[in-house]
Amino acid sequence: MLKIEEVYKSFGNQAGTEQQQVLQGIGLEVGEGETIAILGPSGSGKSTLMNIIGALEEPDRGEVIYRGRKINDYTEKELDRFRNEEVGFVFQFHQLLPQCNLQENVLIPTLVSKADRKEKRAYAESLLKRTGLWEHRHKLPGQLSGGECQRTAVIRAMINRPKLLLADEPTGALDGRNVDVLTDLLMELNRDEKVAIILVTHSRELASRMGKVYELKNGVLHQQ
Ligand SMILES: Nc1ncnc2c1ncn2[C@@H]1O[C@H](COP(=O)(O)OP(=O)(O)O)[C@@H](O)[C@H]1O
Ligand SMILES: [Mg+2]
Repeated sequence: MLKIEEVYKSFGNQAGTEQQQVLQGIGLEVGEGETIAILGPSGSGKSTLMNIIGALEEPDRGEVIYRGRKINDYTEKELDRFRNEEVGFVFQFHQLLPQCNLQENVLIPTLVSKADRKEKRAYAESLLKRTGLWEHRHKLPGQLSGGECQRTAVIRAMINRPKLLLADEPTGALDGRNVDVLTDLLMELNRDEKVAIILVTHSRELASRMGKVYELKNGVLHQQ
């Protein structure tokens, strides 16, 4: 479904005098409905890689190929569609809009697409019910726990039925029980919605629940 070939990325320092090589020839294949964990020390380039896969950043070299087409060749319109509908993003901090209630937050990605609003509202309802958040739908993020907000962020990422969910340390700010609840939710969505997942985590235990585990080290991915 998605293939990454020989991806390189470096960043210059502020003075522009030195280049830091972050990704140095990354290759990865993601099949439909597959689950992949990426481990790696802080600063090893995990978020950079996720951003490149989700077309939020461009690689210096190499290709991201989605369903047989290089995203490098996409028009701006196709890129917007890819980012909004083909992939879903979950970050360490939920990034919900504080002034919108839970139901409004999960529907935000549907506002820009021409998608059937009624169907999306029904899908949001079923996901909110499934995660025990339906009764809280009129509350603001500030009135809910970190775990509840992060589950809401996962629903928001899923609302356009993406084929790939990119989760960058989604449990990094959660405590033990909430880590399990969130991971169970991700696994359930993978099983029921057939969404492929790439999960960045520091936890080997969490990583071991994914089908494949890679470690990002010195700019290269090593399968474990
Ligand atoms: N936009 C940027 N400008 C300059 N340096 C960056 C930028 N984004 C990331 N970096 C650097 O690239 C390295 C990898 O960052 P990141 O991908 O966030 O790592 P990780 O997610 O594994 O902690 C870090 O040294 C970071 O400082
Ligand atoms: Mg990171």
